[in-house]
Amino acid sequence: MEKEFDYFYDFVYKELNLNLSFYKDAQMQRRILSVMKKSGAKDMIEYSKLISKDDKIRKEFLDQVTINVTEFFRNKDMFEQLEEIIVNNTSKKFNKLKIWSAACSNGAEPYSVCIMLDRNNLLNRAEIIATDIDKEVLSKARDGKYKETELKGLDDYLISKYFIKDIDHFRVSESLRKKVNFKRHDLLLDKYEKDCHLVICRNVTIYFKPDVKDEVYKKFSESLVSGGLLFIGATEGIYNPKEFGLKKVATCIYEKM
Ligand SMILES: C[S@@+](CC[C@H](N)C(=O)[O-])C[C@H]1O[C@@H](n2cnc3c(N)ncnc32)[C@H](O)[C@@H]1O
Repeated sequence: MEKEFDYFYDFVYKELNLNLSFYKDAQMQRRILSVMKKSGAKDMIEYSKLISKDDKIRKEFLDQVTINVTEFFRNKDMFEQLEEIIVNNTSKKFNKLKIWSAACSNGAEPYSVCIMLDRNNLLNRAEIIATDIDKEVLSKARDGKYKETELKGLDDYLISKYFIKDIDHFRVSESLRKKVNFKRHDLLLDKYEKDCHLVICRNVTIYFKPDVKDEVYKKFSESLVSGGLLFIGATEGIYNPKEFGLKKVATCIYEKM
């Protein structure tokens, strides 16, 4: 089986430019086998051929391995802490705020940040970049259309203020949409942003192998200016922040020293 996975990982890297060997093996292999079974392929060679020639199967495979689950203000209490630190500290230290939401999925995360900044009159001082490896979610993010069920983390006031209701969806207002620069970026292969005052990367490093995760945090630290913040997911504590030149300032929030 290991040989089959080696072959398949190699194929995926060449064909789709996605390096699966950086992700935790057991989790990744379980996901591959389950989506392969759905396609009807009997082994990974046959599955590779299907991925090459069938757009639907390729999309199903990519959806399965990248996992796009997200929501607005995911872990609300942590966003509240972030808001408090930005308003009372970071925005006082820096005039301009360069913000990078990495692995942003369908945009719920960077748009939550826009709302947070706007209600504190800070949005006009911010430059917001949002990236993900998955082109499809990025296109949804740019479009900014969400079903009512996807607005779970927002109350009626925020929905009426920042969204325009249409027949079967709600669309993020143009003023927020044009504030976010969505771009494709692979955390494992591409260069990182520089001079950021806030980097948000939540619920993706949990899928990476420990040494890969450490490398990612090292690069995020290098992306930050001194005094800048790194905001990570609720299950992703950094146990040795000093090693990356970071200091913990709240649950899941670290400051570059
Ligand atoms: C579970 S979602 C997290 C979304 C959002 N950050 C949140 O916490 O709600 C994980 C995202 O990571 C993206 N992703 C997976 N591997 C990636 C990589 N190597 N580089 C950049 N993004 C990646 C996926 O496409 C997906 O949109």
